[in-house]
Amino acid sequence: MEQVKVFLDESEIPRQWYNILADMPSPMSPPLHPGTGQPVGPDDLAPIFPMNLIEQEVSSERWLDIPEEVLEKYLLWRPTPLYRARNLEKLLDAPVQIYYKNEGVSPPGSHKPNTAVPQAYYNKAFGIERLSTETGAGQWGSALSMACQMFDLECRVFMVRVSYEQKPYRRMMMMTWGANCIPSPSDLTQAGKKILAEDPNSPGSLGIAISEAIEDAVADEKARYSLGSVLNHVLLHQTIVGLEAQKQLEKIGVYPDVVMGCCGGGSNFAGICLPYVRDKIHGKDISIVAAEPTSCPTMTRGPFAYDFGDTAMTTPFMAMHTLGHDFVPAPIHAGGLRYHGMAPIVSHLVKEEIIEARAFDQIETFSAGVQWARAEGFISAPETNHAIAAVVQEAQRAKEEGKEKVILFNWSGHGLVDLAAYDAFLSGKLTHYELPEEEIQRALRAIEKFPKP
Ligand SMILES: Cc1ncc(COP(=O)(O)O)c(C=O)c1O
Repeated sequence: MEQVKVFLDESEIPRQWYNILADMPSPMSPPLHPGTGQPVGPDDLAPIFPMNLIEQEVSSERWLDIPEEVLEKYLLWRPTPLYRARNLEKLLDAPVQIYYKNEGVSPPGSHKPNTAVPQAYYNKAFGIERLSTETGAGQWGSALSMACQMFDLECRVFMVRVSYEQKPYRRMMMMTWGANCIPSPSDLTQAGKKILAEDPNSPGSLGIAISEAIEDAVADEKARYSLGSVLNHVLLHQTIVGLEAQKQLEKIGVYPDVVMGCCGGGSNFAGICLPYVRDKIHGKDISIVAAEPTSCPTMTRGPFAYDFGDTAMTTPFMAMHTLGHDFVPAPIHAGGLRYHGMAPIVSHLVKEEIIEARAFDQIETFSAGVQWARAEGFISAPETNHAIAAVVQEAQRAKEEGKEKVILFNWSGHGLVDLAAYDAFLSGKLTHYELPEEEIQRALRAIEKFPKP
């Protein structure tokens, strides 16, 4: 029998996260205070995040210890198995080996609890009683709901309205874990009321939901805001995925030629690739590829610029690939990829040409996802299907070039709560969507006068 899975023993779980900021080949542009134009300091962020997480956000230590209390919770589903997708390999008939980390085995079904658990832990340790957050697909909201329950924190989730309506089961999961889930835009915040006054039928967006969650957290001194992607400390927590993968592949004597992941705010992709980015910076020949939707092509069509992280312009200016903070992506089913910006770390690495970005249409991603389910059994989250489409494309290229390749990717979550999206695809209701250039240019006018990185 050929080996399909590589496991790590619980005693082999990585005990430190990896911080890429210690190895960046060139300095990153700092976040700026929109009022003064000066770099933001830890005190500027204190109303939004607890100081222990702010310290991680700005840390340049290469390795940060994972607290015992967090490791204890991680062991509920970690280390996650590394799989070899042998059936897909046979189907594609290309000279490739395909390995993937199965992050769908966590209780909420994705990589998101890798950061939800430490974020809840650090907030609790800082004396915070309630967390407020946004969610797109509902994966992040459900992960934080579970983590808050583990550390006895209250949790309020602003869920992008289109997903709230498409995905009632995610809302039920959040409620089961004790959270309060509200469709966004809502009339609970000034940011939400303003959007509803302009468009009562707004489908919402991650940018709008972030504005609501920040406003809600800042108004209550016992509450803080929690973000499921984009920020340095979130990417840091996700590196456990890539660190485990490295140990697992070492066990079978394999090193990847290509590392891939889908990208919404950049966290699962960064999680699997940053330990390999470190190798690349130190001379390894390896391709690192991010997959995004053509309907929200932040890295492939958006400039690298200073912009706000949210629609209501409450965050600092962040240097990142962006489509403009008031860009509202089409309501595609991969709700977690509908974000106008991108993690500054991922954006910087794209700018430095260490990472490459490719965009995929939703029909192409669902075709790849269905092909995957029929070959490998597991039904992927619509976001994850973007990574699978990238893998299929890479395999086809290897075949055309006659080159052998080892591909590693992050299977970021299962799609068992996203079956309505599969229904829409299988019944022919999904359409191709190419974002018109005029819409990008319109949205980018909002950031024309901002400082340049
Ligand atoms: C399963 C899954 N994959 C990927 C993403 C995209 O987020 P990120 O780029 O932060 O990993 C999401 C976001 O909701 C998700 O739920």
